[in-house]
Formats: sequence, structure tokens, C-alpha cells
Amino acid sequence: MEFTLKVPASMSNLGAGFDTFGLAVNLYNIFHIKSSETFSISFVDLDIKPEENLFLKVYKRCIEAFNEEEMPVSITIKTEIPFSRGLGSSSSAIIAAIKIFDILYKKGLSYDDIFKIAYEFEPHPDNLVPALVGGFNVCLKDDHHTFFNKIDFPEELKIIAIIPDIKISTEEARKILPQKIDIKDAIYNIQRSNLLLSSLVSKRFELLKEAVKDKLHQPYRKSLIPFYDDIEKIAYDSGAKAVFISGSGSTIGIFALENEDVISKHCVSFFSSKNIKSSCKILSVDKEGARVC
Ligand code: HSE
Repeated sequence: MEFTLKVPASMSNLGAGFDTFGLAVNLYNIFHIKSSETFSISFVDLDIKPEENLFLKVYKRCIEAFNEEEMPVSITIKTEIPFSRGLGSSSSAIIAAIKIFDILYKKGLSYDDIFKIAYEFEPHPDNLVPALVGGFNVCLKDDHHTFFNKIDFPEELKIIAIIPDIKISTEEARKILPQKIDIKDAIYNIQRSNLLLSSLVSKRFELLKEAVKDKLHQPYRKSLIPFYDDIEKIAYDSGAKAVFISGSGSTIGIFALENEDVISKHCVSFFSSKNIKSSCKILSVDKEGARVC
């Protein structure tokens, strides 16, 4: 027995769609599983302690939840998705662990079965859903069920990730948000999240710049990303159609129709001029989500 599973990264929120929009992108965590004498997990080019290994915690939780015995398999993990950068690396690891358990133990888990376990570790469907099903999704959950709707994402939009060398924990990035908001701010976000969705559907890309504005999280979280306002301006001045914080950051997400290389270069050079290391990736949508390949 031998197989490889890959699970995509995701950009969530996309500005006004806080905790709602999730976009899978073609950056992956890749898991190679094969029969072995004993159970083992190893990482390619990474040194992760067992207690920090989220994949292992979730996989063990599945075994415990279903009263199963540990199977002698070796799992080798190659991570392309950087940790704590707002690109859904935790969700990718969680979905991978549950899918691998599902395949090995032939459980035939439904989406809701998968999400039920996943929420014990990460309560945000806007990263979990794209990791599992791919594509651009409107996501929400109630106490029993996860609702999501996958919408075609315009092929012509290039997706740029500017990834500063700054780790941000989602927990910390949620603690700095206000617990109560003004109704004006709620309306502001409802209007813009709907504008974002409708602009993508009808390809009115000139509306995206207004549509990604938000009052619920980005004004607070940008304080965790040095020079965020400068990068936003540089990206728009270089031709970007939309600029937003990806998930809880620190990655800055950019949509553009053209000039993606120039936009990326300007942003990375600016960070560098301020002694902040960063990298950039020009991405496209992953339409399939977690899959055996
Ligand atoms: N929507 C969540 C947040 C995603 O922004 O906190 C966390 O990855």
C-alpha cells in the first residue's frame, strides 16, 4: 500500500468577507504514505517536535475517536505552505490527517464528519473548506453543519502572495479584535462582501478595490504587519485590482489582471528597503482541494 495526498493552501477573508470567503491556491502540503513495520512520521527538510506536530495530533485524535488501532505506516510530509503566515497551513495539516485516516481505515467520512473533527483543532471553515474541496468558497457553520458554496473564480485574475518573514498566530490576531462593533461597521462590511462576490461573478474588476475594504479586522491586524499601508499603496500604484490581508496575516494577498511580476517586485523591494525579508508567489486557484495524486 502506497499513496500520496496533497492539500492546498488557502487565502481567507479577502477583506470584507471576514470568516466567510476562502480561496484555495496552488501551494501544497504533500503527504506520502506507505506500509511499514512500525508507525512513523517524518518531515522533508524540517525539524518539528512531536508535541508541535498538528498533523500527528489530529491523526491520533481520529484513531481515538473511532476506537481504532494504530496502523504500521510511514508518513513523509513535505510542506510548501509557510507556517503562521495566513495561508491556511494548519487547515491543510488538519484536513490531510483526517483524509489519510479516512482512506487508511476506509471510513467513508462525509464532509460534516470531517469538519466535526477538524473544528476541535481549528474553528474556521473559511480555511478548512477550501483545503478540503478547493476553489473559491463562501463558507459558514452552525452548531451541526457546515454550509459552503463553491463559486467559479475568474481565470483572468492573477493571485499574488507577498509573504513577509513575520509569523502571526491566528489566536493573537483574533485577540486584538474588538468584541463589539458599531452597526455602521457591520453594514459597511455586509455591503462590501456582497460587492466582492458580485464583482467576481460579473467580472467587474474595477469594483474590487472598494470591495476589499473592511472595518472588522484589517484596521486592527495591519498593526501586526509593518508598512502594510505602504505596501497596499505600492501594489495599487503598480496596477493591482485588490489588496488585502490573507487570513490573519502576515501574507498580503493581491489580485491583478496584469503586471504581476512588477507588482511583486515593487512590494518585495520595498520590504527589503525597510530591512524586512519577504518572498512572493504568483499563484492560481486550486480547483480540486485535498486529493490523492
Ligand atoms: N477567518 C479567520 C481569521 C481565518 O481571519 O481569523 C484564520 O486563518
